Amino acid sequence: SKIGVLMGGQSSERDVSLKTGEAVYRSLVRSGYDAVAIDVSTTLSSALQEQGVEIAFLALHGPGGEDGAIQGFLETMGIPYTGSGVRASAIGMHKVVTKTELAAHGIPVPRGTVVLRGTAPTLNRILTSCKLKLPIVVKPPSQGSTIGVTIVRKPSQWKEALRVAHRYEAEAMVEAYIPGHEVTVSLLGGADGAVTGLPAVEIVAPDGFYDFSAKYEKGRTQYLCPAPLSAAVTKQITQLAIQTYHALGCSGAARVDFRITPKGKPYVLEINTVPGMTETSLLPMAAGKAGLSYDVLTERILQSALR
Ligand code: DAL
Ligand code: MG
Repeated sequence: SKIGVLMGGQSSERDVSLKTGEAVYRSLVRSGYDAVAIDVSTTLSSALQEQGVEIAFLALHGPGGEDGAIQGFLETMGIPYTGSGVRASAIGMHKVVTKTELAAHGIPVPRGTVVLRGTAPTLNRILTSCKLKLPIVVKPPSQGSTIGVTIVRKPSQWKEALRVAHRYEAEAMVEAYIPGHEVTVSLLGGADGAVTGLPAVEIVAPDGFYDFSAKYEKGRTQYLCPAPLSAAVTKQITQLAIQTYHALGCSGAARVDFRITPKGKPYVLEINTVPGMTETSLLPMAAGKAGLSYDVLTERILQSALR
């Protein structure tokens, strides 16, 4: 079949997506697939038709590419695609909605609230009404790659943190900062519905904040894979990651991000339904540890399109 690797798009993770897409495209070509790279724009339907694309490999991140929009478009066009469907993508892209859904399933998530643009609650009111204390985290709910995120450690940072998050979206999400370890669990779902948890990765970021530059500038962050956690915690987060995946109804690859307190209590921060596949990304790293090369990984993800 002719595979179109859909990349680029208009989200603030466009550049990350181009790197994911380029790496995936090269991998598919190495494996002998008839693949074509497609930069997603308004002329997408004619590009897909002109190129005769029969399966879409989604290498898109963020709003428009990871939130159900392109998934719905491809459903309507009758083109199978990799990864999660419309509903799981839409829920997974919005961290507030994700947390509501996960809480309903009894999955632990950080406590928090939402502040709408145009309202200006004082920090004290938020801390008191939500039983939070500093530090807290402020983020736009539908971005990826830590775009627009601030860890508020001092009261003086509050207003600016809201302003930054509101630049992206009308809602700013406010939640407890969970001290401890940053750990992620990648999952691979097969066409038969079975889900495999890959080895957990612990992220040791410079200054303790795994932000955009820590994510994509080589050498800035230390990755420990498998994460040096007890067998019990490792088992628990793998189970929580799989529960999260099923709670949202995901398919294909996904990655569930956690914070784990020094005492070993895990909290799910979010799920990524199109995990990054750049050179420094976590899913290929975890797959490698499980003995799956980058090319085997792309093939597995491609097969998930044929569900
Ligand atoms: N949002 C980025 C691409 C990730 O989760 O890997
Ligand atoms: Mg994300």
